[in-house]
Amino acid sequence: MSNGTERSPREHASFYTQANALLRKNVTYQKRNSKKNVFIVVFPVWICLLLLILQKVIDNELDKPKFQCGCSNVPTNNGTDVRVCGIQYSTLDQVFRCAIDSPPRWPGLLQVPSQEFRAVKTDTFPIVDYPDESCRKTQSCPVTVLFTGGNRSLSQSVASRFFSRTSTPNISDYLSSLSNVVSGTNALTREVHFIDPAILSSSDLFTIQNQCLQNSTFQIPFLLGNIAISRKEVKCVQALNLWRNSSSIINGELYKGFRQGNAERKNNEIMTAYDFLDSDEKNYNVRIWYNSTFKNESVFQSPFGQVRVSRSLNVISDAYLRYLVGDDVNMKLEFTKEMPKPKTRLSLDFSSLLGATFFNWVVSFLLPVFLTYLVYEKQHKLRLMMKMHGLGDRPYWVISYSYFLALSVIYMLLFVIFGSVIGLKFFRLNDYSIQFVFYFLFVNLQIVLAFLVAPSFSDVRTSQAIAYVYIFGSGLLAGFLFDSFINDTSFPKIWIIVMEFFPPFALYRGLYEFGQYAFFGGYMGTSGMTWGKLNDSTNGMREVLIIIFVEWLVLLPIAYYVDQVSSLGNRVKTPLSFLKHFRKISHSFRASSLGRQGSKVFVEMEKPDVIQEREVVQQLLLEPNSNYAVVCNNLKKVYPGRDGNPDKLAVQGISLALPVGECFGMLGPNGAGKTSFINMMIGLTKPTSGNAYIQGFDIETDMNNIYTSMGVCPQHDMLWETLTGREHLLFYGRLKNLKGPALKEAVEESLKSVNLFYGGVGDKQAGKYSGGMKRRLSVVYMDEPSTGLDPASRNNLWKVVKEAKRNRAIILTTHSMEEAEVLCDRLCIFVDGSLQCIGNPKQLKGRFGGSYVFTMTTAVENESEVERLAAALSPSAAKVYHISGTQRFEIPKQDIRVADVFRAVEAAKSRISVQAWGIADTTLEDVFIKVALSAPRSSSSSLLT
Ligand SMILES: *[C@@H]1O[C@H](CO)[C@@H](O)[C@H](O)[C@H]1NC(C)=O
Ligand SMILES: *[C@@H]1O[C@H](CO)[C@@H](O)[C@H](O)[C@H]1NC(C)=O
Ligand SMILES: *[C@@H]1O[C@H](CO)[C@@H](O)[C@H](O)[C@H]1NC(C)=O
Ligand SMILES: *[C@@H]1O[C@H](CO)[C@@H](O)[C@H](O)[C@H]1NC(C)=O
Ligand SMILES: *[C@@H]1O[C@H](CO)[C@@H](O)[C@H](O)[C@H]1NC(C)=O
Repeated sequence: MSNGTERSPREHASFYTQANALLRKNVTYQKRNSKKNVFIVVFPVWICLLLLILQKVIDNELDKPKFQCGCSNVPTNNGTDVRVCGIQYSTLDQVFRCAIDSPPRWPGLLQVPSQEFRAVKTDTFPIVDYPDESCRKTQSCPVTVLFTGGNRSLSQSVASRFFSRTSTPNISDYLSSLSNVVSGTNALTREVHFIDPAILSSSDLFTIQNQCLQNSTFQIPFLLGNIAISRKEVKCVQALNLWRNSSSIINGELYKGFRQGNAERKNNEIMTAYDFLDSDEKNYNVRIWYNSTFKNESVFQSPFGQVRVSRSLNVISDAYLRYLVGDDVNMKLEFTKEMPKPKTRLSLDFSSLLGATFFNWVVSFLLPVFLTYLVYEKQHKLRLMMKMHGLGDRPYWVISYSYFLALSVIYMLLFVIFGSVIGLKFFRLNDYSIQFVFYFLFVNLQIVLAFLVAPSFSDVRTSQAIAYVYIFGSGLLAGFLFDSFINDTSFPKIWIIVMEFFPPFALYRGLYEFGQYAFFGGYMGTSGMTWGKLNDSTNGMREVLIIIFVEWLVLLPIAYYVDQVSSLGNRVKTPLSFLKHFRKISHSFRASSLGRQGSKVFVEMEKPDVIQEREVVQQLLLEPNSNYAVVCNNLKKVYPGRDGNPDKLAVQGISLALPVGECFGMLGPNGAGKTSFINMMIGLTKPTSGNAYIQGFDIETDMNNIYTSMGVCPQHDMLWETLTGREHLLFYGRLKNLKGPALKEAVEESLKSVNLFYGGVGDKQAGKYSGGMKRRLSVVYMDEPSTGLDPASRNNLWKVVKEAKRNRAIILTTHSMEEAEVLCDRLCIFVDGSLQCIGNPKQLKGRFGGSYVFTMTTAVENESEVERLAAALSPSAAKVYHISGTQRFEIPKQDIRVADVFRAVEAAKSRISVQAWGIADTTLEDVFIKVALSAPRSSSSSLLT
């Protein structure tokens, strides 16, 4: 097919060449965009800095005296204030920070149920020996103690001594006052801040006795040194010891009495319960029931709450001793106290506080970045353009994927490194290799997701908006909903794993585990997550890693496939393209039956010139001739009807043969099928039937070879805004397998030839582009290339095209008749998908415009005069246009001579007043309008259905 060395089709560029071309282009492009890239990559650094600053602010605030172990004036019991440094009981804040070398003592207290919850006999608890319900009204219910044992008489003897001790209170010594009797409180417990909450809160203190005396209530001041920290009234409450036959009965009663959050079903709480087991005079063996859930839920709960168990143990031991030895012995529990502690700084790790939700957002931030990149190339049809210039899908994928991966890896590395440098435990305590594996797997998944969803967007802004909403929304969903599932130990694990298939949840789970391990690691002073700890039963990291990897493995080919299908510019609505495949089959079946009917109709309507072209094509198919660059045989395109509409025949059997060196113009009204035709010729859509050969290569099978010798100048610019003309040319030249000096030369020449063009014309890119590639193109399709050019640039374009057509074939579609007349050697007029005529502009004008156009404007009342004049000139003059005095006639050329017309008009002027008149040869425009109008408005569907 070659015609001299220039035009020999070059070898199809190898994978490496393509990848190299794209890589070089991308590197230049990204360099130009380096500001944006740097911004993206340093985003985590910026975030970490922000965290650091916030952390500093917090630390600074916490360093203030208010949060330091300090001194303040505290009132004493004699009315004067005294300055106390270190722990002060007016506020507990100091407890967190001050050194407590000698912790205060407090009495060991029993947990006494509140008045309204004490066990009584009711309808729901018909236990005969409980006190009557009426005591709740008079606030005089006793507290119930249950006991059992192997030897009932022994147990009862001991139990009768539980609360038998009495003593007169010593106001100045509250510890001995409360330890000489059994004391208790109804204060809820919590983490102990070196003093029992009962002493500081407003709850009651009690002495518990078998029988309360009349004046058993007394006031007691709590002193620390000589500072009164509170003053409390101590009331007496009566205890009721009840024997039960077995410990299982006791269990049952405790269970039934438990508060259930149900207002009607009031709880019946037992103060404490004992089992003497097999105790006798020689053995002392007891079991105690106590309530460890008894705590203040509204206070921050650490897992280390206070349990009031020491006094209940003392009660039974003291009673046993006195049963054995005699009532004058004493086994006192004088006080309890905590162990001393050093001074501590109050600190708050901000990064742990922000937690997984925040980091989730930071990691997902790259998704919109990838989407922007992918959708931008799609929106501006750049991907398509690259494909047309021979860029395969594989190099595109490899390069884009590597770019995204590199960006992600740098991003995450900076995040982790910088986070560690500024000391975030989240990064520091967990094993770095796990972090690397986790983030690496996840960013890969994220890239695949971007490829997967990019085809469903056609606009960068939309894709960005949706991506941000998705990230934000899924982050919140993970942080609030999914988090509560993870924390709920009763939630089935399998469902959590199912939910982790949603990538943001998987990411959240991973970050959550890092956070948990870092938090406890920090708390305990140990390391965070290590590979060994992946086996922990509560550690979800292993599943997450597996899920992410498997998901990546499965989605990668799907994304590749979806991308490949959609890279041709169609929006993919569903990845289930196999459905499309079915449609295609059924469709081509329909189309072929349709085509048979169709051709019959059109053959009848075809004009001789069109038929002649068809014959040339038939001839060429039999004896191929390398002088013909484009041979197009009965090419058809049918778009399937949607929603009950009939099929649309966009292109109805076009046959064309274009020799080298010809510029072929396609004229036609909008929607005539020109673009459909071009799309088939450049491999964007497959013809429904028929075939075409470009440089001898079949457009159905050899598109890759065609691309090396084909150029397209599309209606709309397809350029990277930030790349220069030279860079575009270098890129496309490399894609066309040009190398070294040849590439340089081609680019230089191209630039020279278009230099004129880009002197300040705003919309110059189309020209820049088409001119640039021209030296290397063997067939050029021009789809309205001069759209939007100013006259100077347009003339330039014309010059370039004229020069370019010397050794190649050019197909040009245009709406500019002037352009067509100047540039094209042959023209065709395309209406409703079929050719109406083919020929050079002169022939067409002669054939369709064999008449002069005679126009005259007069006063309205003289119109009939003008009509007569026209009729006199030629009997076959036809009025084609008429409006308020202006009339236009077509007069066959053979009927008149121009001189006669002038004479007749001069004569008429003497009779009527002629405002204006004219006579013109037909223009291409007239031909176009005539052909377009006279073409059968076939509306193919009505013909064929
Ligand atoms: C129960 O204990 C008493 C002493 O309190 C003793 O006399 C009696 O034998 C014991 N009964 C049994 C069955 O061990
Ligand atoms: C009360 O306690 C104080 C201090 O422990 C002691 O000095 C005093 O003797 C006690 N009074 C009585 C009546 O026990
Ligand atoms: C407890 O056992 C005694 C005999 O050992 C029996 O008389 C009594 O009814 C039992 N009480 C209950 C509540 O079962
Ligand atoms: C134990 O404490 C919880 C929490 O305060 C309470 O709801 C429950 O009724 C108590 N159980 C008994 C048997 O007292
Ligand atoms: C629980 O603790 C809070 C805060 O210290 C306190 O205001 C509240 O009264 C306590 N609730 C009970 C029932 O003690």
